[in-house]
Formats: sequence, structure tokens, C-alpha cells
Amino acid sequence: MISYSPQTHSILEYNKARGVAIRTFLFYALVTFVFIGMLCIAYNEYSLLDSNPQTIRQNCSSESLTLTINTTTTVSPIKQPVLSDTLDIPEIYKIPIPRKAHMPCQSYHEINGISFDQLWEYPPVSVFIGIFTIATKFERRQVIRDLYRAQQKTLIDDRVEYRFIMGKPDSPHLQLRLEIEQEAYGDLLILNITENLNKGKGHAYWKWAAKTFAGIPENKSLLIAKADDDVFIHFQNLALNLRPLAPEYLYYGHERKKKGGGWRTGLMFILSMDYIEWIGKTEIPKRFIKGPEDVRVWDWLRWGNLPKTTWVNEDCLLYQDPRSTEKRHSWLHKDYAGPQTIGMHGLKKSFMWDGVIDLFFGKNQFTD
Ligand SMILES: *[C@@H]1O[C@H](CO)[C@@H](O)[C@H](O)[C@H]1NC(C)=O
Ligand SMILES: *[C@@H]1O[C@H](CO)[C@@H](O)[C@H](O)[C@H]1NC(C)=O
Ligand SMILES: *[C@@H]1O[C@H](CO)[C@@H](O)[C@H](O)[C@H]1NC(C)=O
Ligand SMILES: *[C@@H]1O[C@H](CO)[C@@H](O)[C@H](O)[C@H]1NC(C)=O
Repeated sequence: MISYSPQTHSILEYNKARGVAIRTFLFYALVTFVFIGMLCIAYNEYSLLDSNPQTIRQNCSSESLTLTINTTTTVSPIKQPVLSDTLDIPEIYKIPIPRKAHMPCQSYHEINGISFDQLWEYPPVSVFIGIFTIATKFERRQVIRDLYRAQQKTLIDDRVEYRFIMGKPDSPHLQLRLEIEQEAYGDLLILNITENLNKGKGHAYWKWAAKTFAGIPENKSLLIAKADDDVFIHFQNLALNLRPLAPEYLYYGHERKKKGGGWRTGLMFILSMDYIEWIGKTEIPKRFIKGPEDVRVWDWLRWGNLPKTTWVNEDCLLYQDPRSTEKRHSWLHKDYAGPQTIGMHGLKKSFMWDGVIDLFFGKNQFTD
């Protein structure tokens, strides 16, 4: 039995033996990666996607692209410099994120009589998260990458993998920067599409997921998530909350309620492999490809008349940064954060991530 006390332990303390060394390790790993990457670029040509961890099947060529460093490419003048976020921080983001030892709501499992501690008793899960981003957001990716790599090291039994999902770079300079980034981290996935948000990127991603994972016996219970790049995902809490759920026709997320049911909102939602397989072999009608990517997935499942065996609405643990005053997302609002958080949305600027880091990686943040 694993002892776990979310009230007193931060993510980095999930595994005490390794916790202390992680930040130091990451820092030196990063420095080493970048240094070696830069050195090598001077001498070699690469097939970058080949450096991905073997866990992702390589050959999925028609929907993703391999980046190869071409040292003879003439780099054009940079038209859009990659700028840091503004330093003009609004007052509401200078205060810590409001928090309490329990969320101001009950999670899906709590409503169904399973306490947070009981989640540990279920078998572990594997999740793959595609994080939708755009090529130029280097700094955002670095924050997310640091936090997600640190969390991968402290996961207990579960497995969570992630890739950054983007369209083709639109300039040689951008391409070169992505090639270098890919060489260093191997966590980019370039879809063979022009960058867009609501013109079929979702469709391209789910088709890629089907091509990469569907039909592989070892991937049968793998759960596939789509997430945004302004969301912090707490890997262990996500995995724990997925543990009790049958991976059969699973559609999981925070439901945006409409008459007759609703879609799982795009901040993060998850499909099981049977749905992915179906998406892989089904010609999705044109009218369901463009438009809000999260609503479209819901449309496919209904249009396909598929079973709805494990449709889960987690409207407590997936929520908006409590500091946010955005009216548009008021339906996602919670007054404060809790240690059981799965995902916090609305982190659109670098300074917003500082509060998240303090809250979930600092010590004893939920002691009240
Ligand atoms: C998918 O299956 C392969 C075996 O073919 C395995 O190596 C890999 O780890 C699985 N991927 C994930 C993300 O679980
Ligand atoms: C990848 O796909 C190409 C073209 O479809 C094929 O020739 C090659 O054998 C495949 N490689 C692997 C490792 O499956
Ligand atoms: C990318 O898409 C274009 C246009 O649809 C196609 O011509 C090209 O062959 C694709 N590239 C790869 C590597 O699949
Ligand atoms: C590298 O880039 C140069 C200039 O853009 C181009 O002429 C050449 O074909 C490219 N080589 C490869 C292997 O892509």
C-alpha cells in the first residue's frame, strides 16, 4: 500500500528518494543536451524524428513529417522575432493561486463513492497526451516540458507520455529552430498541415493517433488525450482518476453542457482506443472536420452512432485558474485550487505559470 498524503506532499515529493535530485538533474541534462546538439549541428545532418524514444511508432509518414537539418539552407531574415511575454504583470497574478486542502466541489469518483485515496487501489494506466501548440511558442513549451518531465520521473506505476503537436513551420528560420529543439528533446510532432486551430488540426491529430497506435495489441488500453498549451496537467492525479475507468468507449473530460448532452471541452479530453480505431478507419464528412476541434469530436461520436459506455464528466478537477477574470471561461471557474487538481486552464502568459509551479511543486502548499 502506497502511503500518500496530498495535503502535505508536493509533486516532487511523490517519490522522496528521487525528488531532491530532479531539478538539478534536469538543469544539467538540459545544458548538456543543448550543448551536444549545438556541437553536432556544426558537423552533421540528422533525421530528427529518429531520435524519438522508441515508444512511439516511427513510421506514420503520411500524417507527420520528419525534420532533417539541412546545413545548406539559407536562413531568411527573421520577420517575427520570438519575444518574451510582457513583464507588465497584472496585480491579480502577483498573488499566489488561492488554494485549500480540498477542492470546492466533488470529483466524478467522489460523487460515485470512490475517495481520492482509494484510487491508488486500482491498476495503473498509460496515457498519451498531444499538446496542441504552435511552432513559435518555444518558451511555453520549455515551461511545460520541465514540469512534465519532472512529473514523469515521480509517477508511481502509471505512464504518461506527451508530444507537442503543431503544423508545418512557415519559414526556414522557424524550421531550423524546431530541428534544433527536436534534436534536444525529441518531443515535437509536426503534422503535415498548415498551422490552424479550427480548420482540421484536430482531425489530423486523431488520424495520426489512429495510424500510430490503433491495432497494436500493446496499445489497446492506451488512452489518448488532446490538451491545450495553456493548461497545467497534474500527471499523477490524471492517471489516478483514470484508473477505475474501463477503457471502453471512454470519452473523458469537463463537459460543456448543451441540450441532450455536451462535448468534453478542449482544455483536455481523452478517448479510448476503440474510438481511435474507429476514427482511423472512418472517412469523416467534410462538415465535421472544420470548426471547434472539441465539438467536432463529439459530433463524430454521435454521427457514428457509437456506444457511450464510459462517458465521464469531470467538472471539478479540470477548471480555470482561480485568479482568472475572463468572463468567457466563467463556466470553468473555481474559487480555489486543491491538491487533487487534474488540470488548470488559462495559463496564457509565462508569469501565470509561476503560481502553478509554487502551488504544485512547492512544499506544504495545501496545509490549511
Ligand atoms: C505502443 O505499443 C508499443 C509496442 O508495439 C510499445 O512499445 C509502446 O510503448 C506503446 N506505446 C505507448 C504510448 O504505450
Ligand atoms: C516505413 O514506410 C515505408 C513506406 O511506406 C516503408 O518502405 C518502410 O519499410 C517502413 N519502415 C518501417 C520501419 O516500417
Ligand atoms: C504532405 O501533404 C502534402 C499535401 O497534401 C503531400 O503532397 C505530401 O506528400 C505530404 N508529405 C508527407 C511526408 O506525407
Ligand atoms: C538544402 O537546402 C538547399 C537550399 O534551400 C536546397 O537546394 C537543397 O536541395 C536542400 N537539401 C536537402 C537534402 O534537402
